[in-house]
Amino acid sequence: MSKRTIVLMPGDGIGQAVLPEAVRVLEAVGFEADYVHGDIGWEFWCKEGNPLPDRTIKLLEQHKLSLFGAITSKPKPEAAKELAPELQGQGYIYYSPIVELRQRFNLDICIRPCKTFKGNPLNFIRRGRGEAIEEPAVDVVIFRQNTEDLYCGVEWTNPPDQVYAAFNTHPKMKNFANTPKEELAISARILTKKATERIIRAAFEHAKQYGYTSVTLCEKPNVIRETSGMMLSIAQAMVKEYPGIELWDTNIDAQMMWLTKNPETYGVIVCSNMFGDIVSDGFSGLVGGLGFACSANIGQDMAVFEPTHGSAPKYADFAVSIVNPMATILSACMMLDYIGEQAKADKIRQAIATVIEEGQVKTYDMMKLRGSPQALQQGAASTTQITDEIIKKLR
Ligand code: NAI
Ligand code: MG
Repeated sequence: MSKRTIVLMPGDGIGQAVLPEAVRVLEAVGFEADYVHGDIGWEFWCKEGNPLPDRTIKLLEQHKLSLFGAITSKPKPEAAKELAPELQGQGYIYYSPIVELRQRFNLDICIRPCKTFKGNPLNFIRRGRGEAIEEPAVDVVIFRQNTEDLYCGVEWTNPPDQVYAAFNTHPKMKNFANTPKEELAISARILTKKATERIIRAAFEHAKQYGYTSVTLCEKPNVIRETSGMMLSIAQAMVKEYPGIELWDTNIDAQMMWLTKNPETYGVIVCSNMFGDIVSDGFSGLVGGLGFACSANIGQDMAVFEPTHGSAPKYADFAVSIVNPMATILSACMMLDYIGEQAKADKIRQAIATVIEEGQVKTYDMMKLRGSPQALQQGAASTTQITDEIIKKLR
């Protein structure tokens, strides 16, 4: 097979520290690829008024495969202030480039696995019967619809008259009749049948391929009847095509409570955008948190892989980086799975599992230290050192 070209977009803050580590591991496992650099993030917003320059879009269109670190987003007024003086006052508006990427390239399927590594000191434990302490092994994969729902960006404060009039055709708007229009903020939750079918299909296919016996639709159809209701009815129809896989449906609120009661019960979970965001952060907390949380954004013919965490600016300027690169390395493994290099991905995951289980080399988060440069003197491994250890296990 011809060599792949991977667009590397380190982005901001700790994205710049963790992404090169993932590449080192890919090289060490014998994965052959060419890498090109893609500009993205705050620097390009400030200098060019665009955090996702067209040249990066072109690289992605050409190569269709990318590893991404993280970006920094700031609220509108702050973003405007940091623009280069010659760009100020010209109507530039900041949008998160990763949200933009997902929508522009219709990377509508977000996959977020949360799997316990044996021996991880950050694993969730709970009280069992009597004095027993239990450490349930979590193996959950969250499928989050990535482009629609409340994150679709269709929203207004003080909506235009037409919009206001349209809303007022709904009988439930009578509850807002006494509120002046200027005091109304509206964010639309929009779901399409096509994208909903795609995410639910992806969830069932994953369950089938990897032997999960349940797919849980986590929504709130008893209250949000139209959108969550559509998801449920599509899932109920689709499960018939998957003998041996059960469809469970849970409400998002109850799911967050069950998260700590019986997380080991769940397999594949499928959600709309916001509930998927919430549930995946929740589950990631049971298996080590942001240092371990990996993800994939997959479209029809393009995919971007990234750790779930952001740019963690507090940690960005340390002389020696202390953040955990495993989330990014595990995201690179998801890329390998996606392109049919699963054996190499499994080898890397096994190396990570061995480093964690041996417990000799740990980053500050695994040692439950405060994230300061002193963590290194207190025995924490640096970003580079833990990567070195993972690479040693690959040999
Ligand atoms: P964050 O994920 O950057 O950091 C939150 C905390 O998690 C950190 O302070 C640190 O304690 C911990 N953490 C994160 N990554 C870690 C790692 N690899 N190893 C160990 N600990 C780690 O989220 P925060 O502070 O809310 O946002 C910072 C910036 O990142 C913001 O500008 C935000 O908009 C952006 N962001 C970007 C995302 C993306 O690029 N996809 C996602 C989330 C936030
Ligand atoms: Mg999130």
